[in-house]
Amino acid sequence: MNYPQRTLNCSQPRVVHLGQDHTLNAWVHRLRDHGNITFLTLRDRYGLMQAVIDDQSPQEVRLLTGELKMEYCVAVTGPIRRRPEGMVNPQMPTGEVELHVQQLVILSRCQNLPFVIDEENRSTEATRLQYRYLDLRSSGMQRRLILRDRVVRSVRSFLADEGFLEIETPTLIKSTPEGARDFLVPSRLQPGSFYALPQSPQIYKQLLMVGGLDRYYQIARCYRDEDPRGDRQPEFTQIDLEMSFVRRDDVLDLTERMMQRVFRDGLNVELELPFPRLSYHEAIDRYGTDKPDIRFGLPLLDLTATINQTAFQAFRDVVAAGGCVKALVLKKAGEQVTRKRIAEWEEVARKAGAKGLAWMRVQNHQFEGGVGKFFQESAAAMIRDLGLEEGDVLLMGADSWARVCRSMGMVRLEAAKSLELIEAGKFRFLWVVDFPLFEWNEESGQWEPAHHMFSMPKAEYIDTLEQNPGDVKGELYDLVCNGLELASGSIRIHDPDLQQRVFNIVGYPLERARERFGFLLDAFRYGPPPHGGIAPGLDRLVMIMSQQETIREVIAFPKNTQMASPMDGSPAPVDEAQLRELGIRFL
Ligand code: AMO
Ligand code: AMP
Repeated sequence: MNYPQRTLNCSQPRVVHLGQDHTLNAWVHRLRDHGNITFLTLRDRYGLMQAVIDDQSPQEVRLLTGELKMEYCVAVTGPIRRRPEGMVNPQMPTGEVELHVQQLVILSRCQNLPFVIDEENRSTEATRLQYRYLDLRSSGMQRRLILRDRVVRSVRSFLADEGFLEIETPTLIKSTPEGARDFLVPSRLQPGSFYALPQSPQIYKQLLMVGGLDRYYQIARCYRDEDPRGDRQPEFTQIDLEMSFVRRDDVLDLTERMMQRVFRDGLNVELELPFPRLSYHEAIDRYGTDKPDIRFGLPLLDLTATINQTAFQAFRDVVAAGGCVKALVLKKAGEQVTRKRIAEWEEVARKAGAKGLAWMRVQNHQFEGGVGKFFQESAAAMIRDLGLEEGDVLLMGADSWARVCRSMGMVRLEAAKSLELIEAGKFRFLWVVDFPLFEWNEESGQWEPAHHMFSMPKAEYIDTLEQNPGDVKGELYDLVCNGLELASGSIRIHDPDLQQRVFNIVGYPLERARERFGFLLDAFRYGPPPHGGIAPGLDRLVMIMSQQETIREVIAFPKNTQMASPMDGSPAPVDEAQLRELGIRFL
């Protein structure tokens, strides 16, 4: 097809172009037909530009204009002219000028739209995903994908400056354990054998260190067969990196500087370094979660020691049995804390395993409402010690330490949301360090790695690992931003014997470990360097930066919550012949 090609994009026309003839290739974004004059708002990736067809435009152009509809793809040519007085649009960068159409070519037509691009009232997500190619035309999707591109470029340039090599690792591999289910790919040449898609390049990046590459990174695709939710997709992308001869703080420092550069390049936001650090224990104790949202205060206060001075028997019993009492102080929230809200928060607490949610408010220098009557005697001392003021509301729970922290942590988040304590547009990072190396899995009755089984125990636990695996802390770290786990990493084991001991604890005795990880254990017998690394989730990073609620908003073609793509219909059945070739038959 021969058609006039653009000489400017839709963001470029300005007063400097007045009087010049130009061509735009674009979509009809909006169309206003006033009979003798038609205004087109034309759109491309770069911006919006007004084109005008009036009685000075050639006859054939006016005729063709009658056929135009939204999202037709067109080429228009004509002089750039100044908009008449009063028609200037200061909202549009091109708002001082318009193109007076002398030639119009319809490049392609658009049938009835399932939704109008950039309409305030957006369509359902199901429709957006079915017609993703149309949804991608929206300014929001384009802005986010442009940001994503900028983030990736910033990461690449930062890591190159730091001496990292970008190296690809295979995606048809022997299963790597990151704790999720593998996606499997049947082997045609070895019927009955399967490749796994990598849950992460973990083992390969460690082997690259054994290979002496020193500093590796990869914008790596990872695959995990787990139920998608807001911040999880079955396929996602990590900024995966690994470094030799580093200690924990080297990795944290590099990651902080990378985040600083990315936020500067992507958003023009200056992050303050270093990020605060909390141990896992402190994080749980103060915020009830290992990914605290510190955009607002509201720490969990410990009232365990105070409770014996009160008459609240329910709590005294819990404390007598070795439990804890945790409280949240909602400053001056008296009016806003309605019974309805308390009931909602109590529901949240119960869902997290709590027995209830006790509350009271400070009124006339006393505790009133809820369980206030049990605290009359101790009120003066508590009000003084906790620095309480009129109108403050206390929420309290009592249970085992772990359970009360978790449930009050959930209440903390819920209260912050409903009392609108979270300021939009803020980015609050922190490191959580010193995680336990192992977690007890009630279901399987086994120790499991809290992160993965290649992480180094902290030095003081190495001699006595097996005695009490639950007490062992690892050289582990998570980067948290706005209450979301953004990155995870660790210093790795590089001693084959220590690695085998960790395998033993998590249920991989020698035989089984050799069968699955023999190549890694072998590699560790050839002078491996001490090494460590981290992997920030790229999707989550861009989601946080663009202030979205789900990572689907920052992925061009995501899966829906059923792990399917409504656009192309994957997953889908395959031909009988394909299955036969792979030696697969369904039971
Ligand atoms: P981990 O499993 O913690 O660590 O993953 C690292 C980061 O990847 C992101 N992420 C996800 N993003 C979207 N959808 C998912 N399903 C998903 N799962 C994880 C998160 C997470 O913090 N190999 C180790 C890293 C290392 O030790 O270096 C690993 O994969 O942002
Ligand atoms: P009771 O005196 O047992 O009726 O309890 C009074 C209030 O305290 C109720 O609102 C309960 O939900 C709450 N409550 C009692 N026990 C606990 C607990 N262990 N943790 C949190 N709230 C509790």
